[in-house]
Amino acid sequence: MEQVVGTDRSVQRFKSLQESCVLIVGLGLIGGSLAKALKDAKCCAAVLGYTRSAESLQAALRDEAIDQGFDCLTDAVKAADIVVLCTPLSTYEALLTEIKPFVQHQILTDVGSVKACVLEVARTVFGSVPTTFVPGHPIAGSEKSGLVAAQSNLYRSHYVILTPLEQTDEQALTLVQGLWEEVGAQVSCMGFEQHDSILANTSHLPHLVAFSLVDTLARRPDSDQVFQYAAGGFRDFTRIAASDALMWRDIFKANRMALLESLNDFKEDLTALEAAIAADDQVQVMAVLKRAKQVRSAFTQSLLVRGQHAHGSPLNPARLDFYCEPADEISGQVQVPGDKSISHRAIMFGALAEGLTQVQGFLEGEDCLATMSAFQKMGVSITRSAPGAVTIKGVGIKGLQAPGVPLDVGNSGTSMRLLLGLLAAQSFDTVLIGDESLSQRPMTRVTEPLTAMGGCFETTKAGTAPVKILASSSLSAIDYQLPMASAQVKSAVLLAGLYAQGETQVTEPASTRDHTERMMQAFGVQLKRTEQTVSVEGGAVLRATDLQVPADISSAAFFMVAAALASRGELQLKQVGVNPTRTGVLHILRRMGANITLSNERLFGTEPVADIIVRPSVLRGIHIPVEWVPLAIDEFPVIFVAAACCEGETVLTGARELRVKESDRIQVMADGLQRLGVEAVPTPEGMRIQGRAHLSEAVFSGGVVESHGDHRIAMAFAVASVRAKAPIMIRDCANVATSFPNFTELAGQIGLHMRKQSCKVAQAK
Ligand code: S3P
Repeated sequence: MEQVVGTDRSVQRFKSLQESCVLIVGLGLIGGSLAKALKDAKCCAAVLGYTRSAESLQAALRDEAIDQGFDCLTDAVKAADIVVLCTPLSTYEALLTEIKPFVQHQILTDVGSVKACVLEVARTVFGSVPTTFVPGHPIAGSEKSGLVAAQSNLYRSHYVILTPLEQTDEQALTLVQGLWEEVGAQVSCMGFEQHDSILANTSHLPHLVAFSLVDTLARRPDSDQVFQYAAGGFRDFTRIAASDALMWRDIFKANRMALLESLNDFKEDLTALEAAIAADDQVQVMAVLKRAKQVRSAFTQSLLVRGQHAHGSPLNPARLDFYCEPADEISGQVQVPGDKSISHRAIMFGALAEGLTQVQGFLEGEDCLATMSAFQKMGVSITRSAPGAVTIKGVGIKGLQAPGVPLDVGNSGTSMRLLLGLLAAQSFDTVLIGDESLSQRPMTRVTEPLTAMGGCFETTKAGTAPVKILASSSLSAIDYQLPMASAQVKSAVLLAGLYAQGETQVTEPASTRDHTERMMQAFGVQLKRTEQTVSVEGGAVLRATDLQVPADISSAAFFMVAAALASRGELQLKQVGVNPTRTGVLHILRRMGANITLSNERLFGTEPVADIIVRPSVLRGIHIPVEWVPLAIDEFPVIFVAAACCEGETVLTGARELRVKESDRIQVMADGLQRLGVEAVPTPEGMRIQGRAHLSEAVFSGGVVESHGDHRIAMAFAVASVRAKAPIMIRDCANVATSFPNFTELAGQIGLHMRKQSCKVAQAK
């Protein structure tokens, strides 16, 4: 695109981000991570790098963190369209002075942690702050430094604050904002004074206190002993004192005024606390501690919802791996946690109903807690009286309030897609965000039909989250033929249909889980249903009802397969949901020859449940009928494990949807199975697996497999250990907590030999 450069802001035009060469000046942790993230996002024409150290430049090229490296700053700037300064604040003046003669069309931005001084330097060098300079600051980092610590996901789910001035060019601002969004950050704009004051309190003061405390202790005569016996509290409190000293010296200098102000407030309160302790004023001491504890707990909660699975978030400092050793007996009687799909819907419909809804057996996994938190942020009171016992004070179909903050649903596709249907009809704007995996999953499958109903959305170019949902005054009904078998899309359209004028009709290509339909009926909504079509009339009133959530058949499936593969034992799984739209796994395993019996069949409200007994079985390979695929869609990772233990070949077709789950489950499972010695051939819509039953116990060779942060992949490979020759190590398993928080404990109870292992990764600033 042609550039037009001029002082008239209305005619100034820049290349699009896709066409721009982005120059990263300084390839340390911050610059290196940004370079890697931009490369991964493939969102710009080229990533250029400049650093004074020839060694770092070579390393960046070797790591493929940059496309082109420069050892001359002015050459680099001439080749760039966007220049990002990622060097310490103390270097800005010299750098800007050096590049000034060559800055013409380029947009300038930076990552400095103090903005007033950055603007001051720009003013000194350029005479006035250039309109193309967009000051920025990503609120992410690590106590580690250098390119070696750089990671492309450093900015995912983290805030980036931009502090534009009145005169800042709007297009430049939009481009810089887009650049950060492409690497997964959430961008906020505010004045530079506000930024500096917030950062003085939340970042600079804590760093100062941590450095100072460690220094005080280090200078004690008994410091050796002090550090020898210091434990978790000291470690957590002082982690940030290991940060780059030079950088922090610069920050303390640059934000001196705001920092001194905040330090002064802190000293006053510290002195008051000291006096209260000296005077043994327990009431006063308690008042401070209680207040702080309350606020800190609320903050922890908000972090949980904000970045529950942002890798390297403060809550996730360690990666979790599973180490699983072979096992031969699987037996016992267990109840797996509540059904995930039903738990999400219980919160949603309970919130929209008139009156109190009491839920028993609610799944307290991270996904459903994210749904719960989203509704709490929209003004719904939801309380928990005992494990799995949740009371929702419904606000009625029109009673939701604007949340005021983005709703972060973490890893949960169900939360995001169903909420899109519901939020499309609200009279306020909302933003939905999620973790790295969810931010790559397709949302247009939902926004397209909802747009046809009159909903208004903004997604990334790729049609993924973050999604902004604009306020709507009215929706109209549609007659929608689902292009894919997806209960989430069906449910999103039906939820919007509750608000639409007229009758909304959805027809699916194959039956998918019908919990939305059953629950709407339980809440008193009239539906018309035929085999594959469901219609709902807009304007219904939902009446609160009590719900009991069955145990999740998708979680039970892991243990069912473990028991079938074991050489000894008998496993009973209690009150498992056996809704016919979910029992594909039973059909498939039984056709393979699994010894499964159901007893005690009954209803929990509108949902059927049963106890399931599984015994060691001799399995044979099958061709899985395509009509069973949607009925077992979440169980394929563990079905693939069963297939590897069959006699003969198992063939899955018509399962393209598996490629857009929490991971590409066809590829990731094929990779893992191959690592364990199984001949697994991925196809565009399925997989062929050669069973290795003839090897008796030693079907899987043992080794390290990657779960790619996908909870069901992690649990499936844990089950594979039942028939492994040697231990299996599964990487990146923290997301098991999204659907099955006590998986390892229950797995241990029934006879799997597994343990969790933590492995440190970089932390957020
Ligand atoms: C779900 C529907 C399915 C399933 C997901 C839960 C639901 O997704 O995979 O775990 O609760 O509606 P799709 O609608 O994408 O098939």
